[in-house]
Amino acid sequence: MKVFQIGAAGGVGRPLAALLSARGDEVSGMHRNPEQAAVIAATGATPVIGDLIEDSVGDLAAKFAGHDAIVFSAGAHGTGTDKTTLIDGQGVEKAAEAAARAGIYRFVLVSVFPDAGRDREPNPGFEHYMRVKKTADVFLTHTGLDWLIVRPGTLRDEPGNGLVTAGLAIEYGDVRRENVAAFLAAALARPELRHTIIELTDGSTPVEAAVAELLAPPRS
Ligand SMILES: NC(=O)c1ccc[n+]([C@@H]2O[C@H](COP(=O)([O-])OP(=O)(O)OC[C@H]3O[C@@H](n4cnc5c(N)ncnc54)[C@H](OP(=O)(O)O)[C@@H]3O)[C@@H](O)[C@H]2O)c1
Repeated sequence: MKVFQIGAAGGVGRPLAALLSARGDEVSGMHRNPEQAAVIAATGATPVIGDLIEDSVGDLAAKFAGHDAIVFSAGAHGTGTDKTTLIDGQGVEKAAEAAARAGIYRFVLVSVFPDAGRDREPNPGFEHYMRVKKTADVFLTHTGLDWLIVRPGTLRDEPGNGLVTAGLAIEYGDVRRENVAAFLAAALARPELRHTIIELTDGSTPVEAAVAELLAPPRS
């Protein structure tokens, strides 16, 4: 499978690129900072320079051409509300439109768990981030793409163990970035997992089994 990653040099993007490359997928990893080319190449992916703010839909579509799936795990990462709007919001819309223009239907978006930050004092920047993420999810669900939205809990940098809880509605919790990457890799291998929104935390189910259960929930 040929996968185009947006946000490939990020905390989730890097381990995902490495996992996909290791299993034989061809991965193109988009980055905006030229210095990140080496980071992406070290995962086994092919670096592609690009910027969700500067690039037009046509520019992005040209970069996406020939791939089977897009994974969007980019984010403004607390660099301001304007950037959040441009990257986490309009960036998703541009990428989705570009995917459709390039004839690529599979589109996997890393969004955010709706319960994030509920135990903290309200913060305008964070509330803006949550609204933008939700609006991007809404936009994607109204496209004709074979979309999959994954909403991870609070991201952690501890090494992954491949064990998660994944479901349509689960209790809030932390999730290791490497476990998110492992879940995304498993989900990409099952294109029939689409048109759904999955909440994801660390847990006790191996990622492949978690994806299989989402496709065929066990009867109790
Ligand atoms: N932090 C949390 O607890 C949490 C929880 C749930 C969901 N999330 C979401 O999970 C996703 C992945 O998180 P992460 O930890 O992997 O994030 P990250 O490490 O900040 O990675 C985001 C990547 O997006 C890239 N990016 C930013 N602006 C861009 C642009 N204009 N064009 C192209 N690429 C751009 C960044 O590149 P640069 O280095 O150039 O900025 C970076 O490589 C994000 O969308 C985040 O909002 C986060």
